[in-house]
Amino acid sequence: MQNLKLERDGAVATVTLNRPDKLNALNAATLEELDGAFRDLRSDEAVQAVIVTGAGEKAFVAGADIGELVKQTPVSGKETSRRGQQILRGIELFPKPVVAAVNGFALGGGCELALSCHVRIASENASFGLPEVSLGIIPGYGGTQRLARLVGRGRAIEMTLTGQRIDAAEAHRIGLVNRVVPLAALLAEARALCDAMLKNGPVAVRAALEAIQRGLDMPLDESMVLEANIFGVTIATEDYREGMNAFLEKRKPAFKNR
Ligand code: COA
Repeated sequence: MQNLKLERDGAVATVTLNRPDKLNALNAATLEELDGAFRDLRSDEAVQAVIVTGAGEKAFVAGADIGELVKQTPVSGKETSRRGQQILRGIELFPKPVVAAVNGFALGGGCELALSCHVRIASENASFGLPEVSLGIIPGYGGTQRLARLVGRGRAIEMTLTGQRIDAAEAHRIGLVNRVVPLAALLAEARALCDAMLKNGPVAVRAALEAIQRGLDMPLDESMVLEANIFGVTIATEDYREGMNAFLEKRKPAFKNR
């Protein structure tokens, strides 16, 4: 891979967008590599959680690559948008937790990438924005839909229509990120968050994630059925038996991911 680094450390993989000279801008090749990396990680049973971050100390991702955007036609623009949406939707529905460790500018497609991850944490120097309207276009990788779902319609409309950036503290205040830490502590914090999830039954963690991610897009009565069905399936797992027995025997569970 030219534009991404993929590292595995135990059960946690880190995907680093790696074009620091272009502030990790998302060109088509990088997006395809991102898709390929998540495909590999999906089938890698050793990996149970993923961190997404940017190379360097300045940017997470400073947006779609403007050098490519400038060459679009209406037809290619639609295709580019659909492909980007598809790849980010794959991250949103990824079956294992994905934590965005936002280490600097998260603008345009970078903000949209962070929005497609399951949890966002930010360094103090991070900033967020959807500046597309300043370039005469609109967000095209799900930003017009996901930001409003996360921070509410009024705040999303303000950010999207002004194109203005907000800093990490404001992103935290409005619920765009879960917490803010010094840059030097960001990856350790992301790792600690993954570890806190992974000490639980891995099948149950994935099942809860699926219930939340799929259920939120359904009417409540249907999502309750989904929850009950997934709940029922967890009862069939070895991890269920182990979790219950460990509690009753006053010991730590040894989950087997089965
Ligand atoms: N696409 C392509 N290249 C980009 C880019 C993007 N989205 N964002 C930054 N770069 C490139 C710059 O062109 C520059 O390349 P160069 O050194 O070859 O000229 C390099 O990254 C460094 O960026 P620079 O603008 O010099 O850094 P800065 O600290 O002065 O400003 C930003 C940082 C993020 C404010 C500024 O780069 C910016 O506004 N980028 C575009 C953000 C945007 O509109 N994204 C949405 C796209 S839809």
